[in-house]
Amino acid sequence: MTDWILRGGTVIDGTGRPRFRADVAVAADRIEAVGDIAKAAGARELDISGKIIAPGFIDVHTHDDRALFATPEMAAKASQGVTTVITGNCGISLAPLTLDRPPPPPLDLLGDAADYAYPRFADYLTALDATPPAVNAACLVGHSTLRVGIMPELGRAARADEIAGMGARLQEALDAGAIGLSTGLFYAPASHAPPAEIEALAARLRPAGALYTTHMRDEGDHVLDSLDESFAVGRAAQVPVVISHHKTTGVANFGRTAATLPKFAAAMTSQEIGLDAYPYVASSTVLRPEMIDRALTVLITWSKAAPEQAGRELADIARDWGIGAHEAAARLQPAGAIYWMMDEDDVRRVLAFDRTMIGSDGLPHDIHPHPRLWGTFPRVLGHYCREVGLFGLETAVHKMTGLSAARFGLSRRGTVAAGNYADLTVFDAETVVDRADFARPTQPASGIEYVFVNGRPVWSDGKPTGERPGRALRRQQLQAETRNGLEADDAANGRKRSELT
Ligand code: ZN
Ligand code: CU
Repeated sequence: MTDWILRGGTVIDGTGRPRFRADVAVAADRIEAVGDIAKAAGARELDISGKIIAPGFIDVHTHDDRALFATPEMAAKASQGVTTVITGNCGISLAPLTLDRPPPPPLDLLGDAADYAYPRFADYLTALDATPPAVNAACLVGHSTLRVGIMPELGRAARADEIAGMGARLQEALDAGAIGLSTGLFYAPASHAPPAEIEALAARLRPAGALYTTHMRDEGDHVLDSLDESFAVGRAAQVPVVISHHKTTGVANFGRTAATLPKFAAAMTSQEIGLDAYPYVASSTVLRPEMIDRALTVLITWSKAAPEQAGRELADIARDWGIGAHEAAARLQPAGAIYWMMDEDDVRRVLAFDRTMIGSDGLPHDIHPHPRLWGTFPRVLGHYCREVGLFGLETAVHKMTGLSAARFGLSRRGTVAAGNYADLTVFDAETVVDRADFARPTQPASGIEYVFVNGRPVWSDGKPTGERPGRALRRQQLQAETRNGLEADDAANGRKRSELT
């Protein structure tokens, strides 16, 4: 039975092909039909004439592991049209780990010791099933999380027995449904891990059909070496590699994406590689002393020692306190910061690269977060697509839907087609734009009209509906959907298409 008819809109279907006019019918959790659709008894209708209807956006780079529980309506993401988040990036996942001491940075970006409450990855996914959020989640296992759970000290390579211990935890996570392994070799808990340690763990990915994502060891002077290292892991393990939030940082490296992107393109001819980016010239992570001198400006996002300083520039805080920037930073710790250390031309070059997916890298627990948390997707659509003209709207949508779904194995999401899951975003192409900025970073975007997840509305009239239809997407289920197609999948689940239509 038809539940919804979204009538009169223009479909941008996520594949990258040109838009077309069509109605979209939703039955249960699926898209029932796309075309000219007659009225149906009992179906609710939405007039979306003049609007775009697109697949729900996939945020391929998030740190929403705990936000899915802490803010289950997921307004920061649903307000942007996001319907699925990939969690566990940059080597940090909330599971599998329990802690009896404060989490070392950057694990503290996700929560405190008590929040690391999932000894097994299966426990985390089961908890999501029990208290579902508004959006879907597909989950990576973090290498730093594995290290913190297994190794008594982190400033060295793992020994063979520790690699075996991490491997067993990784295997449990993969068996439970994790979609892959992430690393954050840039960060202290993992920076002493040699390539052999990563490759030993990554060897477990191919049998599972899982992938590898990485916040590389270096995005500055040694960015090309880091690309080589990352691609080598993919070749050794024979798995797809996703380079997270690709950029080149520091004034000395402005313009260097002109060298990195051809390197991507060359490697892509012989192995599977993806990359994601967010649409800003400033980055954000924990407060790190060595980044202070490299950044043009540093803005504090949170501080355990001086919470009232969140939202202020480090230079101003240091001046008020009558001390130097490094001393002030030490006093603020543990803390987080935003760093202006990218060039606008690089940001545009990476966004425009045809294989670049959109990922927010938003930090949902920061007091004064980087605006990418609330603004990434509408900023690409409104600023970079409509205002700057970096690419057409079909391409912009593809970078946040079909391209991402294909890379992460979400084959029944990311495109508007009959039979796919009804993850849908309706927006106004003329007005959609981010409103979050560095001064007011939690302003919801404008122009996102309706967002559906698994056939149920989660965002309308500029606010959450209160519905929580999101699901923990397990790799085995995603693979079955890809392998069998929907008919077989429905049959396996005891449903016939005729029951859905
Ligand atoms: Zn990262
Ligand atoms: Cu990240």
